[in-house]
Amino acid sequence: MLSTMNGENNDEWRLERPAGDENEVRRRHTANRSAFNEGAAAYVDDLDRATDFLASGRSNLHRVERRNLERFGPLSRWCHTAVHLQCAGGLDTLSLLVEGVGSVIGVDISEAMIEAARELSHRVGMPARWYCCDVLDTPHELDGSADLVYTGRGALTWIHDLGAWAAVVERLLLPGGVVSVYDSHPFQTLVSWESSTLEFASGVHYFGYADSAKGWSDEYIGEIDGINVSQQSRKYERVWSVAEVVQSLIDAGLLIDVFGEHVEDFWRPFPSLADSERARIPNTFSVCARKKR
Ligand SMILES: C[S@@+](CC[C@H](N)C(=O)[O-])C[C@H]1O[C@@H](n2cnc3c(N)ncnc32)[C@H](O)[C@@H]1O
Repeated sequence: MLSTMNGENNDEWRLERPAGDENEVRRRHTANRSAFNEGAAAYVDDLDRATDFLASGRSNLHRVERRNLERFGPLSRWCHTAVHLQCAGGLDTLSLLVEGVGSVIGVDISEAMIEAARELSHRVGMPARWYCCDVLDTPHELDGSADLVYTGRGALTWIHDLGAWAAVVERLLLPGGVVSVYDSHPFQTLVSWESSTLEFASGVHYFGYADSAKGWSDEYIGEIDGINVSQQSRKYERVWSVAEVVQSLIDAGLLIDVFGEHVEDFWRPFPSLADSERARIPNTFSVCARKKR
């Protein structure tokens, strides 16, 4: 799939059934934790750049996210506390402080990612609270604490129970609080990784699709020093249709305020694909929803 490349060029790729029960959801999340503990090396290598970036007062929020959040007014006015689910190395979490958020909390399943996030926070002197856990186990002490739950940019594909995820989002939000999701459009999964023109990849489908693989695309984490691909942890992804994401938030009781499909992307998958071809498909989507007062 996208973070890995699809099966076309990956010997370790396997088509999977969607996780059928909670045990399987947890098994896949645990496998993904091991994979991200390995992949976090790329974030550690990037620490100097991330430190300079934040120290110069810049924010890594994507313009689509900023545009969506500005609909609710300036963040400094309404967002006292933000919880970032799947915060990885913390660059985006700390960027929320640059954007005017009062305090930030990052949650991630990978110990190595949280360690990198703590280090970044320490280096730039931007305090934050970090929790290392499965997003589904986000501690109840955070319930009702968030003006904003922020997530995305390569997040939802790692979650194998979307209903449980949406319930966590709902319980974290204060009444009137907003969740912001900006993520890869599931349509991208269908596109051939290798081709310079838009072609469907073989073996993939839009509905109920899951797969597993080893190895990371060069466009994301790339090679990991000292661990060749066959020795890396197998990681599991799930494609959620845009409708499934929106419906999960509605089912959790949230009110949809913003829904968009975008040509813009937050990274550069499909290394051979011409820009004119990229511009023909939805590369990302975004949703903002609010908890009732
Ligand atoms: C592709 S990164 C995206 C994060 C961020 N947007 C970025 O650009 O770095 C996905 C993150 O999700 C985390 N993750 C995966 N499954 C998770 C789960 N079940 N609970 C919490 N975090 C999870 C991984 O450890 C990883 O840091």
